[in-house]
Amino acid sequence: MQSPPLLSTAARRLDGKVAIITGGASGIGESSARLFCRHGAKVIIADIQDDLGRFLCEELGPSSASFVHCDVTQEADVQNVIDTAVSMHGKLDIMFNNAGIAGNYKMSIFEADKATLEKAFNVNVIGAFLGTKHAARVMAPARQGCIVNTTSVASIVAGVAPCAYTCSKHALVGLTKSAAWELGEYGIRVNCVSPYGVKTRIAKEFLQMEDDVFDKAMGGFACLQGVNLRADDIAEAALYLASDDSKYVTGHNLIVDGGFSVFNSTFTHMLQNSVQ
Ligand SMILES: NC(=O)c1ccc[n+]([C@@H]2O[C@H](COP(=O)([O-])OP(=O)(O)OC[C@H]3O[C@@H](n4cnc5c(N)ncnc54)[C@H](O)[C@@H]3O)[C@@H](O)[C@H]2O)c1
Repeated sequence: MQSPPLLSTAARRLDGKVAIITGGASGIGESSARLFCRHGAKVIIADIQDDLGRFLCEELGPSSASFVHCDVTQEADVQNVIDTAVSMHGKLDIMFNNAGIAGNYKMSIFEADKATLEKAFNVNVIGAFLGTKHAARVMAPARQGCIVNTTSVASIVAGVAPCAYTCSKHALVGLTKSAAWELGEYGIRVNCVSPYGVKTRIAKEFLQMEDDVFDKAMGGFACLQGVNLRADDIAEAALYLASDDSKYVTGHNLIVDGGFSVFNSTFTHMLQNSVQ
């Protein structure tokens, strides 16, 4: 299979950079892997979906992308993928902690059990913690590096996702800020990107909607109309945070939600109803 065309040298924003993307085999991670490669990065896809990950790497071409099996909840796996990046390419510039799970799809705290919370925290928080810790281990001596975590609009508002997921994504913002504070001294930037609903496996399983219904439902709650959020848009936001374009940005939560979180629709509806 032919690898996708690279952009011209001047347009490439990650030329010569080495990036690991966890959860890179599908959804937002896959879009990011494609975009990072187009921008000249060497990408290592770290995921538990081996077949999907390997297939994607074949498509992207062996000089651009490689797959390493990695369960982010296992410290040895995370350590291994980071050491592999360094032994393959001599360095690690970008760690994109993107792997995530919903835990379960029950909204209520009455239905959320301890095991579900632990499962969500294991992948969404501890996975990113391990990725951050081991990336920092190799980035600090180089006195540069960039860590990006995928959080969620559920990192700033409640009621849009299951309880366990909401707790874990709030915690991930805390990890981002804490790491940004500590690692700034070594020239390492740490940020997160918070998507609103994107039609990927995780969101489709949660919302159980047909594709067109999904777009209408999600779009209806955002301020911005006439445009639908796609995984590629989150990849573009991650590219900004991973590239030198954001060289003075750290500890930031970049929310990509079409303005969903800036207003309270319940209040607006109440006002509209009381005026009528
Ligand atoms: N899709 C949305 O609406 C949405 C909204 C907000 C945040 N997010 C976040 O975006 C990130 C990517 O999710 P997505 O929407 O692309 O869904 P997705 O299910 O397509 O991708 C998640 C990826 O993570 C991988 N993964 C899961 N557990 C793992 C583990 N233990 N170790 C390594 N990899 C693992 C999966 O195999 C998969 O490739 C997640 O962190 C998710 O919470 C998604």
